[in-house]
Amino acid sequence: MKAVYPGSFDPVTYGHLDIIERAAAIFDELTVSVLNNKAKTALFSVEERVNLLKEATKHLPNVKVDCFSGLLIDYAKQNDIHVSVRGLRAVTDFEYELQIAQTNSKFSGGELDTIFLTTSLEFAYLSSSTVKEIASFGGDITETVPKFVAQKVYEKFGITERVEI
Ligand code: PNS
Repeated sequence: MKAVYPGSFDPVTYGHLDIIERAAAIFDELTVSVLNNKAKTALFSVEERVNLLKEATKHLPNVKVDCFSGLLIDYAKQNDIHVSVRGLRAVTDFEYELQIAQTNSKFSGGELDTIFLTTSLEFAYLSSSTVKEIASFGGDITETVPKFVAQKVYEKFGITERVEI
């Protein structure tokens, strides 16, 4: 069975990679798809985010990386995918995620279901936003994202001394 893991991935974190690895072990084929959201300002372009994800998932043969704009249900239909995977960190994620899942189910006529994986405890605190905030002040993000991602994040903030390139 195929599944899609949609998100902003700005940038991919160890929390996302935990969900990707576990979903890839459950589904035959997992497409990680970056939302091209023009309403949201991102640190990385969609192309950069796709490339970081490709590098971070290159050890997983059944994982593909793609991008989409517009509605997830339309993207899923075009690609004949009927399951969306999302990670749940804490109860604070639940209301938002429940609303998206129910909207997608309703507007796809039941064609797109959502499956939640609970984030591993060690990554429960982690979000792309906190990674960017910490890096912007020169903090250490090497335990939150792969090293090559950390380099790119620091570069965006003009910080060169944190990670040896
Ligand atoms: O990583 P994020 O930003 O929490 O991911 C949110 C995402 C991409 C899953 C969600 O915003 C989405 O699917 N957007 C596409 C537009 C859409 O289908 N909206 C209808 C459901 S609310």
